[in-house]
Amino acid sequence: MGDPVSEARRRIVIAITGATGADIGIKLLQTLRRLNVETHVIISKWAGETIKWETDYTVSAVRALADHAYSPHDLAAPISSGSYHIDGMIVAPCSMRTLAAINAGICDDLITRAADVCLKERRRLVLAVRETPFSEIHLRNMLGVTSAGAIVAPPVVGFYTRPSSVEQVIEQMTGRLLDLFGLDAKDFVRWEGMRKES
Ligand SMILES: Cc1cc2nc3c(=O)[nH]c(=O)nc-3n(C[C@H](O)[C@H](O)[C@H](O)COP(=O)(O)O)c2cc1C
Repeated sequence: MGDPVSEARRRIVIAITGATGADIGIKLLQTLRRLNVETHVIISKWAGETIKWETDYTVSAVRALADHAYSPHDLAAPISSGSYHIDGMIVAPCSMRTLAAINAGICDDLITRAADVCLKERRRLVLAVRETPFSEIHLRNMLGVTSAGAIVAPPVVGFYTRPSSVEQVIEQMTGRLLDLFGLDAKDFVRWEGMRKES
């Protein structure tokens, strides 16, 4: 039998929160569409501001990249319940506020509730946390969510790929996040050993 969703199109929740790096969440939605994965997006109020500030997208254009889009206030959305099957969730970028709320188990918006559901249902939850430098509070929250079953995967540059554009950096970051779901985006450079000098 197996998991009931395994027979169907895979479903992933993408939450975009108000840390810098809105392009990472946007690229995830674009790539998942190309990989024929059903997406459910939630955009926090402050992510709405970073989308406006950092990208050429409007919030409604980002919502249109997903199969389903929800208000962060909609706690009656299907993804608010563990009985609605999804494969997992990526919060990218994940602010320190959202990280702290998830670690504390505070479910007062749809992002933190959907993340809490992933943890209780033992589904994959990946947090692309973004801040620098980290305080002890941030690090404690990261340890807390990791102990609870989440994967903390900060968007950190892999310089070994010698990226020549921000686009390439984002492709590598999003490709590595999707690797955690067994999905191969096939649009970024993987390490294949040292180049031989000729
Ligand atoms: C331009 C901009 C950049 C920000 N970058 C970060 C960041 O990298 N990390 C972070 O934790 N918060 C960052 N913040 C602050 C968050 O937006 C703020 O803490 C907010 O309450 C997060 O709410 P949310 O988790 O509901 O999106 C930034 C805010 C702005 C306006």
